[in-house]
Amino acid sequence: MNGVSGRMGYRQHLVRSILAIREQGGVLLSDGSRVQLEPILVGRNEAKLAELAAKHNIEHYTTDLDAALADPRWQIYADFLVTKARAVAIKKAIAAGKAIYTEKPTAESYEEALELARLAEEAGIKNGVVHDKLYLPGLQKLKRLIDSGFFGQILSVRGEFGYWVFEGDWQPAQRPSWNYKNEEGGGIIVDMFPHWNYVLENLFGRVESVYAKASTHIPNRVDEQGNRYDATADDAAYAIFELEGGVVAQLNSSWTVRVNRDELVEFQVDGTHGSAVAGLFGCKIQPRNATPKPVWNPDLADAHDYDGDWIEVPTNDVFENGFKTQWEEFIRHVAEDAPNPYDFLAGARGVLLAESGLESSRSGRRIDLPAVTSTASTNGE
Ligand SMILES: NC(=O)c1ccc[n+]([C@@H]2O[C@H](COP(=O)([O-])OP(=O)(O)OC[C@H]3O[C@@H](n4cnc5c(N)ncnc54)[C@H](O)[C@@H]3O)[C@@H](O)[C@H]2O)c1
Repeated sequence: MNGVSGRMGYRQHLVRSILAIREQGGVLLSDGSRVQLEPILVGRNEAKLAELAAKHNIEHYTTDLDAALADPRWQIYADFLVTKARAVAIKKAIAAGKAIYTEKPTAESYEEALELARLAEEAGIKNGVVHDKLYLPGLQKLKRLIDSGFFGQILSVRGEFGYWVFEGDWQPAQRPSWNYKNEEGGGIIVDMFPHWNYVLENLFGRVESVYAKASTHIPNRVDEQGNRYDATADDAAYAIFELEGGVVAQLNSSWTVRVNRDELVEFQVDGTHGSAVAGLFGCKIQPRNATPKPVWNPDLADAHDYDGDWIEVPTNDVFENGFKTQWEEFIRHVAEDAPNPYDFLAGARGVLLAESGLESSRSGRRIDLPAVTSTASTNGE
């Protein structure tokens, strides 16, 4: 587990996933048996690793990635490094023949992301990329609505993601400073579009084109050491995606917006037979048969309670932490060849969407996206 001291590496991957899986006795396989996990923590700071290992009763840790990769005891390489450091480390793990599971984005450019997919394919190693948003209870309820045919024909999707990230001067920022520096792999498009790609692709259809406007609304911030720095990366992105089948998706992603919604992310889906608003946890619907008939009248205050027209979708299920669930699926993929569509190629499509979003913002043009279905795909074809 490389980068386990980081925000994602520690909380979501180590504590909520790997340690939780160990606690429950391992991953359940299809024949009823369980495979248990033994992690080795990898990082640059030995003292930090020792502290984490002691805190969680973990036997193995090292600052020597090459030695860990050369050791046949460790079968899976997992990467939660800052994006900039990822591709180099993953290439080493591919060369060592390890199965690989990684955070997104898989690389800084589409070309490099596709190269990782090709190298992994040539080496015949199993590979997987985080796709956690699909496991949010709200999005699982949304998927259930789609599968049930609730929407009729889906027309459009409108998504709002974001919250105010403090500038770091009078209150510490709640995200790392590298997120705001282009030269360190930051930017909200690079961070969020890989998520939007698999969310849109898996719920509504392949993304065929993107138009995006990226902005850096807050030009300078204060870092973890209290030093002021120039924000060189986008902190907000306003985008329109055209999807296979004609669905139009508009998604705003912003670290410079104050929340006036029920949750930090919300997607409104409008269909001919009904609409839904799904968040992280909740999901509410309005069927066509219960749709009010508003009449525009600027002369009269409207007393209608529009919020009251929506019905909450019941949970009807146990939704586990998405990071843990996707880890269990990846372990099954490694241990018993269970299917895994969220591989490096899917990761490359996410990077392509981010790259195309940035290109659209620079040029002011809508960018068409090729269907990337094999590692032989080339940029723009
Ligand atoms: N799936 C999600 O929802 C989600 C959310 C946030 C971040 N991420 C992704 O997770 C990754 C890590 O993000 P984070 O917010 O946890 O960052 P972080 O800064 O908290 O952690 C980064 C880790 O990388 C290590 N690191 C930094 N520079 C390095 C270098 N040059 N060489 C080797 N190691 C280095 C750090 O020591 C730390 O362990 C990013 O790629 C990011 O895009 C995913």
